Amino acid sequence: MTDIASLERELTERIAAAGDEPALESLRVAALGKKGSVSELLKTLGGLSPDERKIQGPLINGLRDRVAEAIATRKTALEAGALDARLAQERVDVTLPAPEIVRGTIHPVSQVQSEVTLILADLGFAVAEGPDVESDDYNFTRLNMPADHPARQMHDTFYMKPQADGTRSLLRTHTSPVQVRTMLSQKPPIRIIAPGRTYRCDSDATHSPMFHQVEGLVIDEHTHLGYLKWVLEELCKAFFEVPNVGMRFRPSHFPFTEPSLEVDIQCDRSGAQIKFGEGKDWLEIAGAGMVHPRVLEMCGVDPEIYQGFAFGMGIDRLAMLKYGIPDLRPFFDSDVRWLRHYGFGAFDAPSIDGGLSR
Ligand code: DAH
Repeated sequence: MTDIASLERELTERIAAAGDEPALESLRVAALGKKGSVSELLKTLGGLSPDERKIQGPLINGLRDRVAEAIATRKTALEAGALDARLAQERVDVTLPAPEIVRGTIHPVSQVQSEVTLILADLGFAVAEGPDVESDDYNFTRLNMPADHPARQMHDTFYMKPQADGTRSLLRTHTSPVQVRTMLSQKPPIRIIAPGRTYRCDSDATHSPMFHQVEGLVIDEHTHLGYLKWVLEELCKAFFEVPNVGMRFRPSHFPFTEPSLEVDIQCDRSGAQIKFGEGKDWLEIAGAGMVHPRVLEMCGVDPEIYQGFAFGMGIDRLAMLKYGIPDLRPFFDSDVRWLRHYGFGAFDAPSIDGGLSR
């Protein structure tokens, strides 16, 4: 019948012209759906005589099958085309320069703390810790600074509210109370360092109310100032990454050490950048000394048997010196531009074999 042939031609053309999957789907509904043109033709078979049905049946069913197949074929083609278009659109040109990734950085204080810890751990020191909120007893009294000791004034201490028994906790003014904690909790021989936060009510270009120190403590039966000198020399050479460093030990006073000394390293400040290890200038980098027998006693260590040395250094100051950072205040401003400039890559962790700094 002509209208089967012309319907087929029309449907085939429209199917071939369908531009996308929704258009093809509406064509399918219009032809093969419940009320579609082909379905309507199929319905007419029921009203035909058996002879006519024998002729029309195969014609109309053939039409339905061919239309269904044409739709399936077109669908596959459209799908492939859509995939090609997407692939073309999402193509990545690997020859383009990589976009700049915004990355976090390691703060110079963390970097220097890791460097110092790594060097001293390599010399056999274990890391000890203590709390930021400390007792007056551990921060002062057992370090040979009783209640009326004048040295307490120099510490500009942040005190907590007094407790019922009259004692006041405080924010530790140095890492030295970790010496007390370690001696009270461990038996000699002791060989520890204690890096951490410290607090004093002080603020200018080189002082911040919160700053960082690293404490060192060695207690055994034989240690002496010669070992202290060697440890600090090894530390300075490794830290400043120079083969030799001139050092000066000046007599000083700390209540918790006897004798007490201040440690300077040689440097040259005549150029734009400081050079460490040589030159005619000196920079103070540590306080140190032999642990006072009174301190040993108050921390449960017998001064008749044991002796020890201790040292304390400012980590922030070491960071400023080594990495040429002029002002301390921005250390704690959390300004990402400063951190990007002075920070260290997260994967550039210092190591003895791989090098300390970048
Ligand atoms: N605790 C001292 C301070 O903060 C530094 C110090 C000096 C620590 C001498 C020591 C030491 O362990 O022996 O000023």
